[in-house]
Amino acid sequence: MRDPILRVISAFKRLNSRDLRILNAIERGMAFHEIVPVERIASLSGMNLGVVLVHLSKLHKLGLIWRNIGPYVGYVLTTAGYDCLALNALVKAGIIEALGHKLGVGKESDVYDALSPAGSRLAVKFHRLGRISFRQTRRYRAFIGERRHISWLYQSRLAAEREYEVLNLVFAKGVHVPRPIGHNRHVVVTSLIEGIQLVRLKELPDPEGLLLSILEDIKIAYREAGVIHGDLSEYNIIVHIGDEQSYVIIDWPQWVSSIHPSSDMLLRRDIRNVLNFFRRRFGIKLDVDRVLDYVKSK
Ligand SMILES: Nc1ncnc2c1ncn2[C@@H]1O[C@H](COP(=O)(O)OP(=O)(O)O)[C@@H](O)[C@H]1O
Ligand SMILES: [Mg+2]
Repeated sequence: MRDPILRVISAFKRLNSRDLRILNAIERGMAFHEIVPVERIASLSGMNLGVVLVHLSKLHKLGLIWRNIGPYVGYVLTTAGYDCLALNALVKAGIIEALGHKLGVGKESDVYDALSPAGSRLAVKFHRLGRISFRQTRRYRAFIGERRHISWLYQSRLAAEREYEVLNLVFAKGVHVPRPIGHNRHVVVTSLIEGIQLVRLKELPDPEGLLLSILEDIKIAYREAGVIHGDLSEYNIIVHIGDEQSYVIIDWPQWVSSIHPSSDMLLRRDIRNVLNFFRRRFGIKLDVDRVLDYVKSK
């Protein structure tokens, strides 16, 4: 299947400042309306209704907004429309210049490589919470109405904000994570990491060294930043084997604070996931309780 982001990019290139103003108005309207009435879009954008209708029809054809055919005519953003708003802000802020190909699809995200205006390579992560399949769409709409439109937008933005915030915290403490570069709406931009997921590596030059360094990261995040990853596993560790073996820990939006009521349980689970993997794959045996003591001690 053709990557939907290609449609987003080609739509994005065709937008002028008025189109963007209208997308912005719809986004703001969605905080108060399940479906934003056209008159409201006109008043929020400060534009004349006749002009607004012309732009709405263009945005609708580009797949950036969804039209409600109900008691009144109104619109909501599609994920593609929301993507365009975030991309526009990131381009204007001088953070990204061009979006490239897909790096990975996670449970709740799409990740692409990109270039900065200075030519460095970036990873751009679009958070996609509340994603539902095409087949389900019609049924869902009938079922829960358009509330979903607010919740995917809100949840995805919240996830990106949380992830960007924690990346800054732990990166500053020296934990091995991608360097946080920028954020807007549901999108987080970081340095691009070359390498492959730990789960796909059958051999490593120095598995003990990697394990110990990961455990030290867990400790630094916990003790110095007050943070627990919360979804740590061999899927969220990217390893690069060049002259030396290096790695980063990715995928932080579900982090919890060390004073969270479930923090002990989550810290233990993160540690157990990592230890189990290294035992199964590399035969390294460490005791969960002893590692937990190490992580929590001064
Ligand atoms: N900074 C990065 N550099 C390179 N690839 C990345 C980066 N961040 C994520 N990826 C790729 O995207 C995939 C999904 O990212 P991840 O943060 O784990 O999101 P999810 O919550 O959807 O699992 C990863 O498994 C990886 O292949
Ligand atoms: Mg992941």
